[in-house]
Amino acid sequence: MEWKPEHSVGIREIDDQHKKVIEIIARIERSINNQRGWREIVYDVVDLRVFGRNHFEFEEGLMRMYGFQEYEKHAQEHQYFFTRLAEIESKSTYGLAESELLKFLRDWLKNHILQEDKDYADHILSGASVIRSNVTK
Ligand SMILES: [Fe+2]
Ligand SMILES: [Fe+2]
Repeated sequence: MEWKPEHSVGIREIDDQHKKVIEIIARIERSINNQRGWREIVYDVVDLRVFGRNHFEFEEGLMRMYGFQEYEKHAQEHQYFFTRLAEIESKSTYGLAESELLKFLRDWLKNHILQEDKDYADHILSGASVIRSNVTK
């Protein structure tokens, strides 16, 4: 799994953050393929959760700043990411989590980064203006 130009949402900062997300996912994928066991994978999962949280907050800030209509739905998708991750992690003790984790992360990449993130990026790139304060000075 690696970042490809087709993953670009057209905003460099977001692409850079997505590259980092994909790098962590690729590490997880390598560990799983090398049968490293959950004890090693778990560090990258923690990394993914921490970096993911910051990245999602950054995106949500942008969406609010540029008045993206689908904000609530998108923020819920971000929330769902952590719910699913926790669900999969809870299965790790039974040795069943690896393939489910990979499938989930691959799907996330395809559906979220390639589609939903493009939607808000397109909104910004189409010339949406920043929501101004309505304070009169
Ligand atoms: Fe994203
Ligand atoms: Fe997103």
